[in-house]
Amino acid sequence: MRKLLKHSLITIAAATTLIASGLLQARPIEIKFSHVVAENTPKGQMALKFKALVEQRLPGKVQVKVFPNSQLFGDNKVLEAMILGDVQLAAPSLSKFKKYTKKLQVFDLPFLFKDMEAVDRFQQGPTGQKLLTSLKKKGLVGLGYLHNGLKQLSASRPLKTPADIDGLKFRIMASDVLAAQFEAVDATPVKKPFSEVFTLLQTRAIDGQENTWSNIYSKKFFEVQPYITESNHGLLDYIIVTSAEFWLTLPKDIRPIVKKSLDEAIAHGNSIAARKVNEDRQKIIDSGKSEVLTITNRQRQQWVDAMKPVWKEFEREIGKDVIRAAIKSNN
Ligand code: SIN
Repeated sequence: MRKLLKHSLITIAAATTLIASGLLQARPIEIKFSHVVAENTPKGQMALKFKALVEQRLPGKVQVKVFPNSQLFGDNKVLEAMILGDVQLAAPSLSKFKKYTKKLQVFDLPFLFKDMEAVDRFQQGPTGQKLLTSLKKKGLVGLGYLHNGLKQLSASRPLKTPADIDGLKFRIMASDVLAAQFEAVDATPVKKPFSEVFTLLQTRAIDGQENTWSNIYSKKFFEVQPYITESNHGLLDYIIVTSAEFWLTLPKDIRPIVKKSLDEAIAHGNSIAARKVNEDRQKIIDSGKSEVLTITNRQRQQWVDAMKPVWKEFEREIGKDVIRAAIKSNN
């Protein structure tokens, strides 16, 4: 026994000397980045850019493994897995944080932001930045917002006015605001993970869904949905999130480089998001598989009138001040 102990101590001492002299490299810190979308999307491209930047700046010290398409964790599991230390980075949509903070529900309110510039002003302003830290109590750190864009309605029949959606089953993300939004126009909301949407549409288990041009294109929803209404009625953006335990234990010389790389990768993802609105919309039109419908101002106003009462319903949970700040960002 004494011999074994002596041997172990000698081994530890030898390893320590080798590490100190740089002859034995410590293992790189591994960052698993899990997301649910395809690689040819703003989030997919942002994740790959982050990997490239970090590994170039911290060679042998940090290794990033990106898992797209719900390969590692789906929507419902990723944040729990993060708290358990099984994944270090994710970028869930803002609609998927309800269990962690109710304030982020502001981003789901229908017809709140007039365009992505307004969204940007709100996210980068004091209220938006405060919302980023609202996850802290739950052991999560919001590292930044990432854009995807405004959502459109795809369906098995043409939707021009709220009366057209009556009775249709619509897949939504796990958000009570989104459920209320569809109930307000007499549709039936069905909360389902992103990974199941294509099959649900293909098998006609649901009649429609709401998403951005890039998600509708990259996940081929347009191949199984004959109509897409260009409604721009809501937002689909993300928070890049990590666990406080992982973030705060990163070595002091590594953390700022990881953060800088993340900020640059977000800027890259945002520029792709802005480009993809037109590019992926056009690709869908060119495919001839789905008809893109535009609506008149009068028809749009009917959707606004039908859905806007949802704001009041969630005012208490979100906070009047937060909603007010979001409205102000439209000016
Ligand atoms: C995502 O963009 O991350 C998925 C959005 C969705 O669940 O519809």
